[in-house]
Amino acid sequence: MAIRQLRFSGDEILTKKAKKIENIDNKIKELAQDMLDTMYANDGIGLAACQVGMLKAMLVYDVNYIEEGKVKKPNILINPKILELSKSMVTVEEGCLSFPNQFDNVIRHEKVKIEYTDIKGKKRILKASGMEAIVIQHEYDHLEGIVFLDRIKEK
Ligand code: NI
Repeated sequence: MAIRQLRFSGDEILTKKAKKIENIDNKIKELAQDMLDTMYANDGIGLAACQVGMLKAMLVYDVNYIEEGKVKKPNILINPKILELSKSMVTVEEGCLSFPNQFDNVIRHEKVKIEYTDIKGKKRILKASGMEAIVIQHEYDHLEGIVFLDRIKEK
């Protein structure tokens, strides 16, 4: 268990595309755990690997922790791929651990269907809505080198 140094606004790594994870070895498992530790320690609800300096296609999140009285219910998504996005959109104020004190409204799809590999190497499909769908889209963007402020500029 370790809290890793966050990467912040202006760091080039936040603009780069993550690389596919070929092998879920101990290093990847350790990275996943450290990402969760780092996320919780900073009161975040999601984190992508590039935010701790690793260009790996992995994101973690926990939408339960803040909303449900600090009961942890983490999820780890390896090599996620969006399969479907709902046509219906929602506007939610977002922040990002790499952009402290910056918050703005972002338009996102209300629902998302995503394929990923879990930490045990099992392929899974997840349908998410509400805050979970928002966080997944936000963190997925990080894996593409996109940050939430880029989404605002598109408006
Ligand atoms: Ni972020």
